[in-house]
Amino acid sequence: MAEEAPALFTFEVALEVANKVGGIYTVLRSKAESTVEELGEDYCMIGICNERFVAMEVEKMEPSLPQMKRAVDLMREKHIGVVTGRWLIEGYPKVVLFNLDTAWDMYNTWSWEMFDKTGVGIPEHDTEAKRCVLFGFLTAWFLGEFRAQCGKKSVIVAQFHEWLSGIGLLMCRMRQIDISTIFTTHATLLGRYLCAANVDFYNNLSNFQVDIEAGNRQIYHRYCMERAAAHSAHVFATVSDITSLEAEHLLKRKPDLILPNGLSIKNAQCMHEFQNLHAIAKEKIHHFVRGHFYGHFDLNLDKTLYMFIAGRYEYSNKGADLYIEAMSRLNHRLKMINSDVTVIAFLIFPASTNNFNVESLKGQAVVKQLKETVDVIKDDIGNKLFDLCLRGKLPNEEQLLDRDHVIKLKRCMYANQCSTLPPIVTHNMTDDANDPILKQIRECKLFNARSDRVKLIFHPEFLSQTSPLLSMDYDEFVRGCHLGVFPSYYEPWGYTPAECAIKGIPSVTSNLSGFGCFMQSHLSDPEAYGIYIVDRRFKNVDETCNQLTDYLYHFCRMTRRERIIQRNRTERISEYLDWSRLGMYYTNARRLAIDRTHPEFLEQTRSFSPTGSVRLPRPYSAPSSPFGSRIASPYQSDEEDNKVFDDDDGDSGLHTSNLISTDTESVLSTATTPN
Ligand code: UDP
Ligand code: G6P
Ligand code: GLC
Repeated sequence: MAEEAPALFTFEVALEVANKVGGIYTVLRSKAESTVEELGEDYCMIGICNERFVAMEVEKMEPSLPQMKRAVDLMREKHIGVVTGRWLIEGYPKVVLFNLDTAWDMYNTWSWEMFDKTGVGIPEHDTEAKRCVLFGFLTAWFLGEFRAQCGKKSVIVAQFHEWLSGIGLLMCRMRQIDISTIFTTHATLLGRYLCAANVDFYNNLSNFQVDIEAGNRQIYHRYCMERAAAHSAHVFATVSDITSLEAEHLLKRKPDLILPNGLSIKNAQCMHEFQNLHAIAKEKIHHFVRGHFYGHFDLNLDKTLYMFIAGRYEYSNKGADLYIEAMSRLNHRLKMINSDVTVIAFLIFPASTNNFNVESLKGQAVVKQLKETVDVIKDDIGNKLFDLCLRGKLPNEEQLLDRDHVIKLKRCMYANQCSTLPPIVTHNMTDDANDPILKQIRECKLFNARSDRVKLIFHPEFLSQTSPLLSMDYDEFVRGCHLGVFPSYYEPWGYTPAECAIKGIPSVTSNLSGFGCFMQSHLSDPEAYGIYIVDRRFKNVDETCNQLTDYLYHFCRMTRRERIIQRNRTERISEYLDWSRLGMYYTNARRLAIDRTHPEFLEQTRSFSPTGSVRLPRPYSAPSSPFGSRIASPYQSDEEDNKVFDDDDGDSGLHTSNLISTDTESVLSTATTPN
């Protein structure tokens, strides 16, 4: 057989391929288009088959690459369920998805092999970890077969996301399969656990006895899987400086590279349309609010501001505790000045529920009925008015609104009376008494009373267009709001504020989130761009809460005109968050992995290397802002500080030079070698 020409195949491996869980799904989904553009048909994602999503998001088809077809067929011959096809998202990437349920027969053999080769054993009760073993061995099996089908000169790069996919990497290395591996951690297991336990995390990073801490939390085996993957990878990467520091201390390997998360701006951005879209989406939220506050509708919607916090339900890590406390303080301050502004503060965190509660549904039904009645009467009156005018008579009030109308209206209005306060939570919570959000709301007595200027609505489910209550998807909801509030304590990146920014919606983030630090080091005046960064690192909780309350209070005092101007500025950040720029970090990671395994390949295939340094143009529309007026990320080195782009006239708020890491060669030369 003639030796084939050198080729590069790239795989990305994650549990969240076509399987929505959290931010990693957003990374993969939003990045797909730019990656396919760069790598073409030789790029493929590997994940698991979650029927719920696959049925809607995947177009099944047989692989076009013969090597892939052969590898899949070999696995199917052994009764492994493998779905192949294309993910129906921008970029239309190829996917290979394993049905884990078809592989349980192999579990014992594989877990023994893993124990034998790595010394890591999985406890019987940890089903999630056991599924990770299945996923890992299936991935390594597939990649091994694929490798065997490729010519020697071909190079295969596989990037594994998060500890959940780490066994695949580990087994590729243990079985010495010739694959250039990258491990990207989007958080560390211990970091998440320690922060959730309210440990003083950042001041003690270097002091934790990691094995003991992991053991105490009964996650030692998971920790070992994560640490082994980080150490076995040819390239170890993470998403932000702050997580890099954490990984260095907790996983004991300093990441070689930081891969900041981007978004697909082309899809999300509607150019000049975003202001109009805000108004349209806000109207839909108004509609929901009318129903939710039925019987107590004393709000002036024109003076109502919508704020929200959202994400996976990690109460203190996501800063929900701070959010509620700051809302309570804001309520007090607005009452003190007799403000006519109402803030409706949403909390969107999926929790365990038994469907919507009756009160919430009833409110929407009653208001719908009133609206329909008013519409019918409106048509009646219109017809009457038209007829009378045709006959040359100008009607008086009584002639227009007859008794039947009045009775119908009264009936609706009586149904609209409600003695209880508007509900805080839209669903029946499985454990209402112990839910941390509800407990805190009870403590600070924010019960949506008439006198409250801040009203709370807890929606314990991700938003969906098909909901009978708030029928909007998350993107549309964000557009309709005025401010996203994400004062996270543990947040390796944090997509939620970035998603606000690209829609022109200002947000609060924290200097303990990857995105917050990224903005702090690339914008000279983040607030001017509608990015408020609360200090959760150097202030105590009370001070941080006051700072957050100040931001919220200041926001409530803005005029509509000021908000519109601010939205225009916020939206300008989007181009800097686009994968078309940030995708280069991934390119560099792949290059580094190849350089460490097959340097000769880079020599042979010049066309693959992006060369030359990249500088972003200064945004022509940036407002004047005090240059360098704020300290950068607490973790930023002096060296990085010096990289800040000092533009001539100082009018650009964005520091461009360290937004894109210089040229590829320097990345290769400064990276450290794996252990
Ligand atoms: N999200 C969603 N629906 C909602 C609320 C949030 O799809 O109702 C998504 C949001 O768009 C974001 C992700 O959940 O992409 C959360 O990602 P982030 O990185 O902020 O946090 P993670 O959950 O990964 O820790
Ligand atoms: C957008 C729309 C305007 C609307 C405004 C409301 O800018 O284009 O027509 O008046 O939003 O802004 P607000 O901050 O009050 O929701
Ligand atoms: C993790 C982190 C989150 C990050 C996401 C994508 O889920 O918790 O902060 O945005 O990964 O990198």
